[in-house]
Amino acid sequence: MKLSKRLQQIEQMVTADYTHIWDCCCDHGFLGASLLSRQAAQNIHFVDIVPELITSIESKLQQFYQNSRSNWQTHCLNVAKLSLKQYQGKHLVIIAGIGGDLMIKFINDIHQQHQNLNIDFLLCPVNQQFALRKKLIELKLSLKNEVLVEDNSRIYEVMLVSTISDTYKPIDPVGHNIWRSNTVKQTRVVEQYLARTLNHYKRVQQGGTENVDDIISAYSSKV
Ligand SMILES: C[S@@+](CC[C@H](N)C(=O)[O-])C[C@H]1O[C@@H](n2cnc3c(N)ncnc32)[C@H](O)[C@@H]1O
Repeated sequence: MKLSKRLQQIEQMVTADYTHIWDCCCDHGFLGASLLSRQAAQNIHFVDIVPELITSIESKLQQFYQNSRSNWQTHCLNVAKLSLKQYQGKHLVIIAGIGGDLMIKFINDIHQQHQNLNIDFLLCPVNQQFALRKKLIELKLSLKNEVLVEDNSRIYEVMLVSTISDTYKPIDPVGHNIWRSNTVKQTRVVEQYLARTLNHYKRVQQGGTENVDDIISAYSSKV
């Protein structure tokens, strides 16, 4: 199964130093399966709340990855209830393809339940990026990497952040490195993303139900 450009980008941002990788909200498990294929960690976990999806992933993994050198495990579970404590080592929790509000809830709950655990989060929300960034800042997470990726006419932010860091690097409420580019193609992606984001918040401002002046001025500083 060929991964979408968005999932490929996420996959590429997974480095080799994790004991456990959690593909949360895994849906059909394409991302986790790709990580399993390249033995990205000793243990790859597939997590989704829908029992039929987990049953189907379980049977495919048994069929195709029975002799895999990496261990795999499936979990039919609400990500908000993820329990990492019984698993020793360094964790990477990947959450992608869901709204920012739900992602905020998951990260808040996981963070609260694992105050002293070393967890990296690799995140790709479909919306509410500003609110998500605010939450990550509030939780004092440190930035490791952030990129913009275009896939099928949509543009996504992908962020790798960490609960524990020797060299704390602050997260910007509207991002920092995502606005940089070193190719003409990426410059166009950056310009489009900025224009779309500003247009979105200007529409919200015109609606008059929410004060987004600060958000607009923060994004405007990137123009
Ligand atoms: C659109 S898919 C995202 C798939 C993949 N992560 C991606 O980025 O393409 C969203 C998945 O989130 C799952 N999901 C929604 N709420 C969840 C929750 N509370 N806990 C676990 N999985 C959840 C859904 O069942 C669905 O499979």
